[in-house]
Amino acid sequence: MSKLTYFGHSAFLIEHNNFKILIDPFITGNPLSPVKASDLSADFIVLSHAHGDHFGDTLDIAKRCNSTVIAVNELANYVASKGAKAHNMHIGGSYEFPFGRVKFTIAHHGSSSNEGEYMGEPAGILLFLNGKVLYHAGDTGLFSDMKLIGEMHKINIALLPIGDNFTMGMNDALKAVELLNPELTIPMHYNTFPVIKANPDQFVEMVKKTGKNARKLEFGETFEF
Ligand code: NI
Ligand code: MN
Repeated sequence: MSKLTYFGHSAFLIEHNNFKILIDPFITGNPLSPVKASDLSADFIVLSHAHGDHFGDTLDIAKRCNSTVIAVNELANYVASKGAKAHNMHIGGSYEFPFGRVKFTIAHHGSSSNEGEYMGEPAGILLFLNGKVLYHAGDTGLFSDMKLIGEMHKINIALLPIGDNFTMGMNDALKAVELLNPELTIPMHYNTFPVIKANPDQFVEMVKKTGKNARKLEFGETFEF
């Protein structure tokens, strides 16, 4: 059994085979975060891109826990230059880590550090955990290659942004569900800030009306899969 815990925004903890894997640990500065960054530990941190609301507490956690940060090349180099361990990858590539395989997909967005430095391309993240496939879309607009991602990988859980303004809104995310065809969709990247206000319950209903499964995770809620 593996566990998925949602910390709000796009931040998740996956516990699998005694490994802790954080994705986009933006905790400090998230007004809705149910935890403090100092409460979290990780063996690995996977980053979709460098924006502050995803990179978040990466360096603090990685240095404290000696975590390996998995990111696209430019961002991984930046992490290493700041004194944390990094594993460089890039879009389309996959690699077998002790907890499972990670593959980066495209995402249509930007990626720069808080100082405005270019951090490579933003990515979506596929995690392969003992036959279960998780897709964390990162920050992205809708793109038709989601159909290809869904055809190539039988996705069990899709984590999709619904907050609009910076990413897909609910209508586009609904189309993404159709293209990806996951077993379960969980919305993310909403309500953290006023400009990304969205109703996750409404989104869940929209998905269910199409005959597909979706559920909301409360901030701090853990889901077993
Ligand atoms: Ni972003
Ligand atoms: Mn974002």
